Amino acid sequence: MNSSLINKLKNISEKEKQFLVQKIFSKVSKKYDLMNDVMSLGLHRTWKSYFVDLIEINTESNVLDIASGSGDIIKLLMKKAAANFFSLDANKDMQTQAKKKINDKNVKFVNAFAEKLPFEKKYFDVVTVSFGMRNFSNINKSLSQVFAVLKDSGTFYCLEFSQINNKILNNFYQLYSKLIPTYGGILVNDSDSYKYLIKSIENFPNQVELSKKMKDAGFKKIEVLDIIDGLASIHIARK
Ligand SMILES: C[S@@+](CC[C@H](N)C(=O)[O-])C[C@H]1O[C@@H](n2cnc3c(N)ncnc32)[C@H](O)[C@@H]1O
Repeated sequence: MNSSLINKLKNISEKEKQFLVQKIFSKVSKKYDLMNDVMSLGLHRTWKSYFVDLIEINTESNVLDIASGSGDIIKLLMKKAAANFFSLDANKDMQTQAKKKINDKNVKFVNAFAEKLPFEKKYFDVVTVSFGMRNFSNINKSLSQVFAVLKDSGTFYCLEFSQINNKILNNFYQLYSKLIPTYGGILVNDSDSYKYLIKSIENFPNQVELSKKMKDAGFKKIEVLDIIDGLASIHIARK
């Protein structure tokens, strides 16, 4: 793994970030679910359920989950309605894991980048991204793409790590996050990928900055819901 790229994550080119991110997810794909449970102490499951509870879909809905990874969000959405689902991810190894979990004709798997979505304009009723956006090599471009593929009546839901508003919790998180690469080293023999994870959270826009980016992409109405004082947040954006 290229440690120097991880250390200067903020200043690397789009191509370098794309390359680094692909390499990391190929490496962690088989242990991705296990590490999510360990690192978040299982909390990611509760956050994802809460996220999906907010999403309204029915059997007529066209639904796109970007950065779908091992398929957790699609799996939860499938319990709500047999909609027309698209699970999109840039990484084939992560998609292999998703296909093992999801075996349903209502789900189409698409291998593509969020920065260049291969769909017609105004096709989707719902677009979701969960813990994906901080990995994108160009967030602004991906938001413009989401805006383009959403119907005028459609809704974009984004779940991501965010800025913690509580000082004590933030101090605890700063300490805890230093342990995560060590966990990665012990459990999956890969501390560098988890150094990347922490760096990518540090560099990601906070709630206000991300809302501004969504507005710049064309969204008019943005609602922000903090989870655990901003440790993560949900942005709901409409045209
Ligand atoms: C942290 S995982 C999140 C997976 C899943 N959504 C979840 O909540 O568990 C991030 C995923 O984003 C994918 N990804 C990273 N950059 C991407 C891009 N530019 N376009 C599409 N997918 C991307 C990775 O391959 C990986 O599967």
